[in-house]
Amino acid sequence: MEKEAKIYVAGHRGMVGSAIVRALKARGFTNLVFRTHAELDLRDQRATNAFFEAERPDYVFLAASKVGGIAANSEAPADFLYDNAMLEMNAIHAAWKNGCRKLLFLGSSCIYPKFAPQPMPESCLLTSALEPTNEGYALAKIAGLRYCAYLRRQHGADFVSVMPTNLYGPADNYHPEHSHVLPALIRRFHEAKESGATVVTCWGDGSPLREFLYVDDLAELCLTVMDTWHGEEPVNAGSGREISIRALSELVARTVGYKGEIRWDVSRPNGTPRKLLDISRALSLGWKPTTSLEDGIRLAYRDFLENPIRTER
Ligand SMILES: NC(=O)c1ccc[n+]([C@@H]2O[C@H](COP(=O)([O-])OP(=O)(O)OC[C@H]3O[C@@H](n4cnc5c(N)ncnc54)[C@H](OP(=O)(O)O)[C@@H]3O)[C@@H](O)[C@H]2O)c1
Repeated sequence: MEKEAKIYVAGHRGMVGSAIVRALKARGFTNLVFRTHAELDLRDQRATNAFFEAERPDYVFLAASKVGGIAANSEAPADFLYDNAMLEMNAIHAAWKNGCRKLLFLGSSCIYPKFAPQPMPESCLLTSALEPTNEGYALAKIAGLRYCAYLRRQHGADFVSVMPTNLYGPADNYHPEHSHVLPALIRRFHEAKESGATVVTCWGDGSPLREFLYVDDLAELCLTVMDTWHGEEPVNAGSGREISIRALSELVARTVGYKGEIRWDVSRPNGTPRKLLDISRALSLGWKPTTSLEDGIRLAYRDFLENPIRTER
């Protein structure tokens, strides 16, 4: 990307969008375009077309999305499919129609099959059934990814996709039911510490293995992908390191300063035993994650304490 290029970051107030803006500013990009959800609802095709016709950005980071944890996804699969499919199709199509030179679409590792090989390579997409709890969201993300790939194949558009693992960091969502596992643990242990609770009960037995990536590391990868990747397949974004939910809970509790007991409710489901991305492609582009989980959780907790709790979009 040239320093004077006009860059639209869709979803610039979200966790990922705001990290991409930080990374762009740190590298000296100044011609940045933003719209809040209230100013431009990307589900609205007419408004989206009018915005792209007026602004004609050279580059687009599509980090706007309806995002939620397992509970939110299973309660409202229709909303997750409709909202995401509409906003992606409108934004990607309008960007292409209006001369965007490169667009980076953000999806999620939940696009891969429930029983994918571990670690999951990009090539396992659509090889078997999806995890049912977030199927609506995953289908929308697969459509966005494939639409970028088809625009490349049919029209030569240089549109690419990045599929991140679980993310965390500044501007995360701490909604008590609708957040992802790591921010949910930060909030629960913080509240337990504040209220003097002596027991926190977590779901399952704590054995599932999960991967977490600090959002600023993802933003660096997005900038690298914008400059170096020109393929139909997405680029996986992960830390390459796994941790059990039990070890993660203990780490969060230590960081937050909760000293009580952690109990495991084994009558609750564990979820998939292991979910790890194969990040060889991202590493081959010259990127590597630099924030340890310990440092990242410390930074996320500081942001949680310093900023008003963000509970919903
Ligand atoms: N969070 C994770 O752990 C995670 C993991 C893997 C992948 N991802 C992917 O990363 C991307 C961004 O996620 P995030 O965690 O940054 O989400 P987020 O913090 O909830 O931010 C989403 C952003 O999208 C905007 N938005 C939502 N609906 C919109 C609409 N209809 N029109 C215009 N803007 C809209 C919101 O705008 P306002 O701020 O104006 O409300 C917000 O800034 C998503 O594609 C997600 O799938 C996230």
